[in-house]
Amino acid sequence: MIIVIDFGSQFNQLIARRVRENDVYCQVEPAGIPIDKLKALNPQGIILSGGPSSIYEDNSPSIDKSLFDLGIPILGICYGMHYMVHTLGGKIKKASKREYGFANLDIKESNPLFKDMGTGFQCWMSHGDSAIELPENFVITASTKNTSIAAIANHEKKLYGLQLHPEVEHSINGSRMIRHFLFDVCNCQKNWTMKSFCDGAVSQIKAAVGDKKVIMGLSGGVDSSVAATLIHKAIGKNLFCIFVDNGLLRKNEKQALEKSLISSLDLNIKFIDAKDKFLFALKDVIDPEKKRKIIGNLFIEVFEAQATKIDGAQFLGQGTLYPDIIESKSAFGGPTSIIKSHHNVGGLPEKMKLKLIEPLQLLFKDEVRKLGTQLGIKDELIWRQPFPGPGLAIRIMGEITSSRLEILREADAILLEEIRKAGLYRKLWQSFAVLLPVKTVGVMGDKRTFANCIAIRAVTSNDAMTADWAKLPHDLLGIISNRIINEVENINRVVFDITSKPPGTIEWE
Ligand code: XMP
Repeated sequence: MIIVIDFGSQFNQLIARRVRENDVYCQVEPAGIPIDKLKALNPQGIILSGGPSSIYEDNSPSIDKSLFDLGIPILGICYGMHYMVHTLGGKIKKASKREYGFANLDIKESNPLFKDMGTGFQCWMSHGDSAIELPENFVITASTKNTSIAAIANHEKKLYGLQLHPEVEHSINGSRMIRHFLFDVCNCQKNWTMKSFCDGAVSQIKAAVGDKKVIMGLSGGVDSSVAATLIHKAIGKNLFCIFVDNGLLRKNEKQALEKSLISSLDLNIKFIDAKDKFLFALKDVIDPEKKRKIIGNLFIEVFEAQATKIDGAQFLGQGTLYPDIIESKSAFGGPTSIIKSHHNVGGLPEKMKLKLIEPLQLLFKDEVRKLGTQLGIKDELIWRQPFPGPGLAIRIMGEITSSRLEILREADAILLEEIRKAGLYRKLWQSFAVLLPVKTVGVMGDKRTFANCIAIRAVTSNDAMTADWAKLPHDLLGIISNRIINEVENINRVVFDITSKPPGTIEWE
């Protein structure tokens, strides 16, 4: 495996993904990892990430310097390279000119990372500090106009540094540099495949669970469906799934899940109709955060009541993904860099004394989809767009009632049908309808109307951290608007949301 040491870069996950794209396993570890623990992981190579700090700042992240004597190849990227230079006796200085954006890299010396890349290429730079003096036994392997030390190497010790960012797509040859590091420098084998992951995960679940029982909430989303399928493959009928219909689901949600997953898996599943309970608790609630809290707490209450009826359950299965784990783990051991904690069934295990089984906790979303395919899950489920836990409640602005839910459900179903017909469903991260808390005047069949307004939200994104509003074709918007106004009672106006994230969020509440 390859270890990425997290020096605080936003691109850590991207580096790990670039490695894994080559069928080599990669794990991100915090800079504070003890050197013995690192050694025990037996990595074939280490990548020191970039980061926002300057090497001379107080509390800038660091790792035990004996790292450089382990005989393991190391690639330092940006701050990672500064750390290598500084620690081994070179000098780093604030550059007179900050270099940000595209730059042309001039290759000065042949080097395994730049194999077959000619004399230079365009790369992506983002740094304020630069190396100005190299440690002993290092050579400059590339420069740019503003940065004479843009890439370095100590061939004997297999230590390499790149001021540029090979992990971002803007760096031409970026993926190739990482590939060369993996295979020409570290001699990695291509053995991280979904088949090998699946076999390993099944044996691990079997060993951990034995003949005990696992319970888990199934939402119909990709993550919980893939996790359930994997656990089911390991322990079969000892997996007990609970599907809570909270009345805030989209049209035909339960039927879709039955058709796509349950029919083919022979799952133990209990459907709980908790619609009235949720709607009653949400009556007159308008504040988005209050809605979320009520829904979250009630879900736990309903789930817990059902789970305790399953005799002998000792484990709770969850579809937690790798980004949740990385984001919950601090790079510097302090609280500042924790972005968010898991949004899964929080609080439940402690109360119920269940142990967690999180078989997807090493995977990224696209890998989960690949695993789902490997497990034989149908495409229509694998490629479902994400749907938030609080469901339609956070897509109804203002009061949530059965009739308003019905209006939104119908409008949303039409929107999704047309998006699918146009072949755009998979290209969009999400597309959905939002019911606004205003009524507007219209005219239909020579009569004045005063009815509800629907907003269409469609975004493209890679990870939901940022998103662009999707440039849906005008013809398609016309068809959707026409159909919604004609087919859904009490709607007389449709508007299109043209806000990206930031400054907006994807959901409206
Ligand atoms: P925002 O609205 O924050 O959403 O831009 C980012 C992504 O997260 C989804 N989302 C949620 N998912 N529980 C979830 O499981 C939630 O409470 C929740 N809120 C937002 C949202 O649909 C988008 O994909």
